[in-house]
Amino acid sequence: MKMNIRTLTNDEKLPWDLLLLADPSRLIVQEYVKNAVIYVGELERKIIAICVVKETAKTIVEIMNIAVNESMQGKGFGKQLIHFAVQEASKRGYAQIEIGTGNSSIPQLRLYQQCGFRIVGVDFDYFTRHYDEEISENGLICRDMIRLSYEL
Ligand code: COA
Repeated sequence: MKMNIRTLTNDEKLPWDLLLLADPSRLIVQEYVKNAVIYVGELERKIIAICVVKETAKTIVEIMNIAVNESMQGKGFGKQLIHFAVQEASKRGYAQIEIGTGNSSIPQLRLYQQCGFRIVGVDFDYFTRHYDEEISENGLICRDMIRLSYEL
């Protein structure tokens, strides 16, 4: 099934339920949504997915947040959003699109590599430094941020 993907306008409410699925820190999210482009994926006009893309350098954008409604996960919508964000970044003339995820986020690491991203680095102890509560998933403590990049 194909979603309709569009940019969220400034007068629309932020879909916080989706944003917090991908990132438990409201404060951190509030900071990076400023001056970011927010894409939403819709099915029958209902928002079911989000992707926040931000310019981090003159030639680089980063996917800061990506989430699909829990009941809609695993159906290919995440992949559609990533492909869309990659195409948009390329059309806008950026040289690189990046994404970061936790060392414990195994399905996400698989997905991003399937979409063409390569691991380029590790931001050691990023999550222990920036998040008050310990995050754990897949039997692992989330400590480090794995940095991935796609050359456009
Ligand atoms: N568990 C295991 N595998 C999963 C999965 C899950 N929860 N979600 C997706 N996959 C796999 C699929 O099997 C698929 O692989 P395949 O094409 O080889 O079959 C691939 O990942 C793509 O799946 P897709 O259906 O496009 O992913 P999605 O629509 O579920 O979106 C996320 C992926 C990560 C955006 C979504 O699962 C999500 O919102 N997760 C919670 C928020 C989050 O973790 N965001 C990212 C923070 S870095």
